[in-house]
Amino acid sequence: MARLTSAALLLISAAIAVTAQQDTCASQVLVSSDGDLSSIASCSTFSGTATITGASLNTVAWPALKSLTGSIKVVSNPHLTTLSLENLQSSTGSISFFNNTQLSAVNMPRLKSINSLDIITAPSLRQLSLPSIESVNTLKVEDTGLDNSGNLPWSSLPKVSDLGVSNNKLLTAIDMPSLKAISGHLVIAANGLMEGQGKGASLHLPNLTSVSNCTLRHLTDLQVPSLTAVSSSLSFDETNLQTINVPLLKSVGQTLSIVSNNVLRNISFAELTSIGGALLIANNTELTDVSGFNKLKDISGVLNMRGAFNNVSLPAVTAVQGGMSVLSSSKDFDCSTLGKVKASARGKTVCQAQVKAAKPTNADGSDIDGASVGSSATAVMNTMDKLWVAAAVLSSMIYVL
Ligand SMILES: *[C@@H]1O[C@H](CO)[C@@H](O)[C@H](O)[C@H]1NC(C)=O
Ligand SMILES: *[C@@H]1O[C@H](CO)[C@@H](O)[C@H](O)[C@H]1NC(C)=O
Ligand SMILES: *[C@@H]1O[C@H](CO)[C@@H](O)[C@H](O)[C@H]1NC(C)=O
Ligand SMILES: *[C@@H]1O[C@H](CO)[C@@H](O)[C@H](O)[C@H]1NC(C)=O
Ligand SMILES: *[C@@H]1O[C@H](CO)[C@@H](O)[C@H](O)[C@H]1NC(C)=O
Ligand SMILES: *[C@@H]1O[C@H](CO)[C@@H](O)[C@H](O)[C@H]1NC(C)=O
Repeated sequence: MARLTSAALLLISAAIAVTAQQDTCASQVLVSSDGDLSSIASCSTFSGTATITGASLNTVAWPALKSLTGSIKVVSNPHLTTLSLENLQSSTGSISFFNNTQLSAVNMPRLKSINSLDIITAPSLRQLSLPSIESVNTLKVEDTGLDNSGNLPWSSLPKVSDLGVSNNKLLTAIDMPSLKAISGHLVIAANGLMEGQGKGASLHLPNLTSVSNCTLRHLTDLQVPSLTAVSSSLSFDETNLQTINVPLLKSVGQTLSIVSNNVLRNISFAELTSIGGALLIANNTELTDVSGFNKLKDISGVLNMRGAFNNVSLPAVTAVQGGMSVLSSSKDFDCSTLGKVKASARGKTVCQAQVKAAKPTNADGSDIDGASVGSSATAVMNTMDKLWVAAAVLSSMIYVL
């Protein structure tokens, strides 16, 4: 829509001018001026697509609109500051915002339910007012100016299918007290970073019991005391967490990955019994002791660990289907403590202490103490580099859904 030529735009305007109101309430409408809005202004139900875009719009209001079954796209409006849908109550459709740099307030005071709401690249957005919201299927809030004040739309939702909150640099606390289940993907990443100055955001999900796929980055605090099931993958990357504690989690359907958490010292998954994919623990600079998996029995993928471990304890593991590769840079690490794990592994097994290259790396990828890999370890390391690449791919993170 945004690429429509001006000729096409004229055609649409002409079509709107001659059709009855019934049709305009189902049509494709390009709104680039206050005048364009008048063609749909009286619609109380809208099932078409309205694309609101252009340099001449400052505020947009559509007070007649009560029900939306189509979609509203608000794209690239450099001067738009406020959008209000005062009387919109329910929507089985979608509303999306993209690239509205001056947008500071979005008001939908009566909106109870909507299928999809995306707000992406609205760095001036301070007010996202959805006080009546009860149900959203997909919600994405990315690169906005929202901070912790005010009622954020996720604070009252009991369930969602996909939820992404990323790149909101002023947002340092994310609390979702009502949320019980996420049937799809949860992505929380790069919030509270304040142009590299901040440490991230806290995430409190006191009542969340299940999620399908969960990607967590740049967290300062995590509370998931009720989480029992992750049906797909769970990853913790580049967080500022000292402890990762998921006390009731019983199973992870695919990969559990814990990578590049620079202050992490303690991992605790007290009830976890099975991992349907890989267990990947790597590049966590301060992590020397991995002993928080006391009930873990089955790992269907590979057990892949690299770090400065002194102690790794997996006392209940009875099956590792994908093989094992555990490398520690510590001379105190004793591979014999993993003897049972090794025996249970159906794939290849590698366990080695004093591997310099296993030491968590600096930002430039170099070894922390600047040493290179000894030649005696080279053969192992070549294989390991390949494994590492696979591991890095598995753990590669996304900022957006
Ligand atoms: C964002 O909007 C501006 C106009 O405000 C436009 O020039 C620019 O191309 C848009 N960027 C994207 C990625 O659409
Ligand atoms: C969430 O859990 C807390 C305690 O963990 C409880 O007090 C509260 O009522 C729950 N909230 C909802 C909306 O279920
Ligand atoms: C889960 O998320 C990971 C990483 O974002 C992705 O690679 C994977 O395909 C997702 N799995 C599902 C079932 O969506
Ligand atoms: C690690 O965290 C768990 C859960 O918070 C706690 O029970 C345990 O004592 C901690 N272990 C260490 C060594 O601090
Ligand atoms: C490993 O753990 C055991 C028991 O938890 C402890 O006695 C021992 O000191 C630890 N070893 C190292 C090198 O930290
Ligand atoms: C290890 O962590 C550092 C710092 O977080 C990061 O810059 C580096 O790229 C990571 N290395 C790998 C191999 O992931």
